[in-house]
Amino acid sequence: MSKVAALARPCILRRKAYIPGKPVEEVKRELGLSDIIKMASNENPLGTSPLALQAMIRELQENGNRYPESVPHELGRKVAQFYGVQPEQVFFDNGEDGVIVVLGLTFLNPGEEVLGGEITFSAYENMACKMDATYVKIPLTTDYRLDVDAFLARITPRTKMIFLCNPNNPTGTIITADEFDRLLRGVPESVLIITDEAYAEFADDPAFPHSISYLSRYPNLVIMRTFSKLMGLAGLRIGYAIAHPEVIGLLLRTHEPFPVNRAAQAGALAALDDVDFIRRTLDVNRRGREQLYVGLDALGLRYYRSQANFVFVDLGRPVEPVYAAMLEQGVIVRPLTSFGLGHGLRISVGTAEENARTLAALERALAATTPA
Ligand SMILES: Cc1ncc(COP(=O)(O)O)c(C=O)c1O
Repeated sequence: MSKVAALARPCILRRKAYIPGKPVEEVKRELGLSDIIKMASNENPLGTSPLALQAMIRELQENGNRYPESVPHELGRKVAQFYGVQPEQVFFDNGEDGVIVVLGLTFLNPGEEVLGGEITFSAYENMACKMDATYVKIPLTTDYRLDVDAFLARITPRTKMIFLCNPNNPTGTIITADEFDRLLRGVPESVLIITDEAYAEFADDPAFPHSISYLSRYPNLVIMRTFSKLMGLAGLRIGYAIAHPEVIGLLLRTHEPFPVNRAAQAGALAALDDVDFIRRTLDVNRRGREQLYVGLDALGLRYYRSQANFVFVDLGRPVEPVYAAMLEQGVIVRPLTSFGLGHGLRISVGTAEENARTLAALERALAATTPA
């Protein structure tokens, strides 16, 4: 290691760089392909809400030269009204990713423990690692669900935060209202319970918890949501937390001065009114999930019914060659090797056409690669 590299904090030297779903631009460059579909990052296959797009263009034309509001006032009121909470209970940042970092900067001391699923969204572990805290991986149940009792059993005096990804990425499974209730009742108030509901709008299981209704009783509860998925604003980067006003007040002491750009603020505000886009997105997702299930059944593959906008497939054999063979056909999916699932594949739900192309590419890739 060079002298300059050795200057880094030891917790950074222990880290590996995050590997996101492969961007289309990269596949174009590397494989020289032009016709590519991305089914890897659980984005909105219908694009961006038309109302949001108009609002963003207008905002940039009028105010692109001005700093945005540090705390988005009108958006905060609208989101608060939507959930029936006070505007002082809402905090926005540069995507949920930004919210997660601000939570860490605000609350985590070195050596404290963060509990999260063993197979879950990686941002919680990444944040804990950057804060020199300890990420404790809680094994999932055999049906790939977060195990609430295992979380409860693992709480120690050093535990500061619990991350529940609900629905869980990459498995698409949920914690039920009963389980959520049991967890909240069992966790001491000295521990923050952070429920990441990035995909909650896609969940149609009546057992999915109504987390907002717990806020008045649990000041240690933080709910995170995003405009990246249902609202189609992943490229704009805006997510939020809903929590007790004191928790939000602390986050506001920590955040960057202008974490959410003007286009994102204007786009998010307009997207909330785009009921047609929201309805179409949910409809395409519901049908798309079923289409994928039928196709996966036909291929004889094991998959898990999803409460999100992606489907987790257990290929029963190493995923990387299959992933590479799909990539060569211009179809980007997400191999789950980095999640610790060497046989796992995650397919984002797309349009009917994209789903059909993905299933066909998967079939060809399975035929072209030999199981180990
Ligand atoms: C569970 C989960 N939380 C948060 C995020 C990131 O959300 P944002 O785009 O708002 O940063 C993702 C992105 O895929 C996710 O899967």
